[in-house]
Amino acid sequence: MTKRWIVETNVDKTQTYPQLVEASNLIKENEVVAFPTETVYGLGANAKSDEAVEKIFKAKGRPSDNPLIVHISNEEQLDELVEEIPGSAQKLMKAYWPGPLTIIFKNKQGVLSERVTAGLDTVGIRMPDHPIALHLIEESGLPIAAPSANRSGKPSPTTAQHVLEDLEGRISGIVDGGETGVGVESTVVDCTREIPMILRPGGVTKEQLEQIAGQVLVDPSLKEGEGAPKSPGMKYAHYAPNAPLFLVEGDKKAIDELILEKQAEGLKVGVLTTEERKDDYQAECVIACGKREQLETVAHSLYETLRAFNKRDVDIIFSEVFPLEGVGLAIMNRLQKAAGYRYIKR
Ligand code: TXA
Ligand code: MG
Repeated sequence: MTKRWIVETNVDKTQTYPQLVEASNLIKENEVVAFPTETVYGLGANAKSDEAVEKIFKAKGRPSDNPLIVHISNEEQLDELVEEIPGSAQKLMKAYWPGPLTIIFKNKQGVLSERVTAGLDTVGIRMPDHPIALHLIEESGLPIAAPSANRSGKPSPTTAQHVLEDLEGRISGIVDGGETGVGVESTVVDCTREIPMILRPGGVTKEQLEQIAGQVLVDPSLKEGEGAPKSPGMKYAHYAPNAPLFLVEGDKKAIDELILEKQAEGLKVGVLTTEERKDDYQAECVIACGKREQLETVAHSLYETLRAFNKRDVDIIFSEVFPLEGVGLAIMNRLQKAAGYRYIKR
């Protein structure tokens, strides 16, 4: 049975909430509990316990060589977990913590469960910018390991309902704090290198990182086929809707032609577009994912949209593409994975 606690999003730091006490007690007892962060829902467990962390992998069906992010609620917790805090990390923490930024540090041996780091000598740590997440970490008094709270391979969950669709009965509880804000996961940046490197684009943009840390590199393998990704999770298929998804590089006319071609073959066609163009396509299922003019709204709705196609009767999905600027880099990274890197260029 999965317990569900409904909690207002803006919990007050100074108050005690019986639901969060109950949830944190389960974490202390090495059970797994889902909770909202500002990016997506996480599936949390005591990061120091092998038994607890094992339950995360089991519930998600996650490959065990894929390390987990550790969530903390204050910077003092870092000293116990990492060997050193490089200058670049210090600056980035000051600017973007709490927030959607995961920093890779050199791991202090023997503190965290080895299941968290998947045997690497580094660990990814973040301080989420969500009152419920911070309250839960604080209340448990533990570093909390938490991947996105979806079954491995599915789009990440941005509502409690998404989590329950994937994990009901497989986890001890979920704190329901409503919809998450950012909608795509945190940016993962490796600060153990001389020049910090983005291993996964996310909620904090490359431009924002550069403002604070100067030059920032992007893992070259994020472009498909260019070497093994440095972030182990990036190599797995992810986010894919049930019907095959294709990214269309071309104008509206290109998608119109594709719709007609596929309809002529007897297929039901889905289109992923934005508010600006949602009435312009003559397909069986057209879903607007935010507004193109505000890419943050596209990020916010992306996973909800990918999940929505599974509830509709479509055989094939065509998606518009987005500029690789700002949060567009993260949006396109997730869309590419959801599409298995299938592009149609017209
Ligand atoms: O926004 C987020 O980051 C969400 C919320 C719940 O905090 N969490 C999340 O976790 O997305 P997960 O496990 O789904 O993704 C973690 C990513 C994976 O791609 C993993 O390979 C990478 O971070 N990662 C974790 N530790 C790493 C390490 N030591 N070195 C390189 N990559 C690491
Ligand atoms: Mg994930």
